[in-house]
Amino acid sequence: MQIGILKETQSGETRVALLPENLKGFLAQGIAVVVEAGAGASAGASDQAYVDAGATVSADRRAIVAGSQVLPIVQPLSAAEQATLQPGTVLIGFFRPLDAPKALVPAIEAQATLFSMELVPRITRAQAMDALSSMATVAGYKAVIEAANLLPRLFPLLMTAAGTIAPAKVFVIGAGVAGLQAIATARRLGAVVEAYDVRAAAGEQVRSLGAKFLDVDLGGINTEGGGGYAAELTEEALERGRTLITATCAKADVVITTAQVPGRPAPLLIRRAAVEGMKPGSVLVDLAAPAGGNCELTKPGETQVLNGVHLLAPMNLAAQVPVHASQLYARNIVNFLGLIVKKGELAIDLADEVVAGSCVAHQGKPVNPRVAALLAPQT
Ligand code: NAI
Repeated sequence: MQIGILKETQSGETRVALLPENLKGFLAQGIAVVVEAGAGASAGASDQAYVDAGATVSADRRAIVAGSQVLPIVQPLSAAEQATLQPGTVLIGFFRPLDAPKALVPAIEAQATLFSMELVPRITRAQAMDALSSMATVAGYKAVIEAANLLPRLFPLLMTAAGTIAPAKVFVIGAGVAGLQAIATARRLGAVVEAYDVRAAAGEQVRSLGAKFLDVDLGGINTEGGGGYAAELTEEALERGRTLITATCAKADVVITTAQVPGRPAPLLIRRAAVEGMKPGSVLVDLAAPAGGNCELTKPGETQVLNGVHLLAPMNLAAQVPVHASQLYARNIVNFLGLIVKKGELAIDLADEVVAGSCVAHQGKPVNPRVAALLAPQT
């Protein structure tokens, strides 16, 4: 059996799916590992480091794609490359199967087996494979660092001979994995932090990080979806949140917004008026940009300055921290591969809920029911 490690082709993608330090267990099972030349260069892993770890390095990408039974990657392959996959080739990566399932059709038709890291069920047994959490952790940290860099103020309270400087006020919307990491990072830098989330469970976690949790009466509706995620709210409940958000944004120096509902566009939480009410010099980072954004004015991938307010809408913050993002992602991949590679052979057991839950397609057919529904012909 052969595992192929490819160089990512999407613009701005610097991560790599496996690092030299991850290869030992595969090689011990008699699995060959072939690495595309330069695959780990941006993530601090040279070709020589892969060779030293026991892999072969090749510049022949086509041969790696055609000759590998397992291709762990970060971003999807191009449609043209998907069409060249051998039947039964296993691809594992971030495939956005609920947002853009049609982009995966060439690989499905080529009878590749696709596992999407976004679909790994959020159960205790699968925590070590939870790449969404890994990347959200990196993004939450980096969002605060980016904001601190642009802010024309300091974060901490400083008492100096020249006077006292008040701490920065940071407002975090959505206290999931990214939001909690943003809160922790902002607190470490000395900011005063407030946070809002629709899930009541988030309140305790926010307070445990030394931040204030803002409660909103949402009219007693259910805010919890399955698997620890939020449910999509009614327009009335969203509006109650927006009222609080507008008032809190007006006082904040930095707003980091992370609210998402899986498989749905990001909820619209920050109206134009809320941005117009922000102080000149303040910074708004919309981490929900890949799902359309939480802010009405967000242009995914673009940085705007609106009345002196910086509005950032990064599409891939994890790629700006490629060494550690790759380290975490690669460990998630290794743990996932442990489920489907046994004694040097592929052993795909679709009776296993983690394997089945994360499987987009197998033998030419969609497996995950949500993906299957999205790809079903419309009647
Ligand atoms: P996410 O990226 O889907 O959403 C981010 C946050 O936005 C969530 O906290 C969500 O409640 C919030 N949100 C959604 N709609 C909102 C709205 N209208 N207004 C305000 N906030 C809104 O979620 P993420 O960060 O991937 O995970 C959320 C939670 O899932 C975690 O905090 C944790 O409790 C749970 N989880 C469980 C895991 C497990 O293995 N059991 C692993 C990882 C997370």
